[in-house]
Amino acid sequence: MKNLLDKIILGDTLEILKKMDSDSVDLGVTSPPYNKQENKKGWLVSNVKYNKVSDKKDEMGYQDEQIAVLNELYRVMKPGGSFFYNHKIRWEQGVLIHPMSWLSKTDWTIRQEIIWDRMIAANIRGWRFWQTDEKIYWLYKPTKNKKIGEELLSKHALLTSIWRFSPERNNPHPAPFPVLLPLRCIYSLLDDKKDAVIIDPYMGSGSTAIAAKLLNHNFIGIDISQEYINLAQERLDNLQRYAELLEEEKKKHIVRKTFKERKEKGEFTGKFKKNSICSINNKKLTTSNILASLFD
Ligand SMILES: C[S@@+](CC[C@H](N)C(=O)[O-])C[C@H]1O[C@@H](n2cnc3c(N)ncnc32)[C@H](O)[C@@H]1O
Repeated sequence: MKNLLDKIILGDTLEILKKMDSDSVDLGVTSPPYNKQENKKGWLVSNVKYNKVSDKKDEMGYQDEQIAVLNELYRVMKPGGSFFYNHKIRWEQGVLIHPMSWLSKTDWTIRQEIIWDRMIAANIRGWRFWQTDEKIYWLYKPTKNKKIGEELLSKHALLTSIWRFSPERNNPHPAPFPVLLPLRCIYSLLDDKKDAVIIDPYMGSGSTAIAAKLLNHNFIGIDISQEYINLAQERLDNLQRYAELLEEEKKKHIVRKTFKERKEKGEFTGKFKKNSICSINNKKLTTSNILASLFD
C-alpha cells in the first residue's frame, strides 16, 4: 500500500482498485467519465472526448461499470470514510438519467446531495432552463456504531449544500473540475488533520492530488491516459501556484459568532417561535435574511 502513495497509476480503474487492500483509504473525490456520448450538444462548450477511452457507451453497461467501481471504492475505504462523487443529470432522447439510478444500487450510504452551481451553462438553447448545476454525492461507509458518522464542525457545515465555483480555466484536460472542489471536500471533513490517504480513481489533470498535497495529505490516483498523468505531474510540480486558492477557501470556513454569543446577545440561534416569523433586532426576517445573518 505504501508504494502507491503520491503516485498516479496508469491503467483501468476497476482492474487497479481490485488489487488494492481493503479498508486502506481515508477519503476520496472524483468525477468519472459521464457517458456524454461524444455528441456536440452544447453551443458554448465543446464536446468531451478523452484521448484513451470512449465516453460513448451503452447506458446500462456504463451504469453497471460505475456500480462495480463504486463498490470496489467502498471496499478499499476505511469504515467511517467518505467519498465525494461528482456527476450530473443527463437527457438522452428526451429521457432524464439521474445519477441516483445507479448510486442507490451501490453499497454506500448516501449522506448528502450537494449542488455545484457552475454559473455557466453548456447549452444555451431553450429546450430546458439552462442547466448550470452539477451534483456532488457525499457517500459514507458506516462503522459498526456510527450509521451516519461524525458531525461536521460548524465552520464547515455553514457553507450549505449549494457550492458555487466556476469551472477550471487554462487547463488543457477536456473535463477538469476546479481544485476548489476537492479542496472543500477534504478540508470540510478532515479540517487541519494531516497525512490521510485520499483517492481519486479518475485523476485526469490531478486536481484532487493538488488539493490533497495543499492540505498535507497523501494521494493515490488512477487514470488510463499517460498524457493526462503527465499533465497532472506537471501541475503537481508547480503546487505553489495553487497556494492562494487554499487561503481563499479557508477564509470561507469560519463561524463569525458562536451559538453562545448569539444567544447572549438575543440574536437568531436557529430556533423558530410558534406562530411567528423569526425576528432579529425587532426586524422580521425571511429565511434568506436569516442565512445571510449567519455569515455576517
Ligand atoms: C471527468 S475526467 C476527470 C477530471 C479530473 N477530475 C480533473 O480535475 O482533471 C475523467 C477521467 O477519467 C479517465 N478515465 C476514463 N475511463 C477510465 C478508466 N476506465 N480507468 C481509468 N481512468 C479512466 C479519463 O482519462 C479522464 O481523465
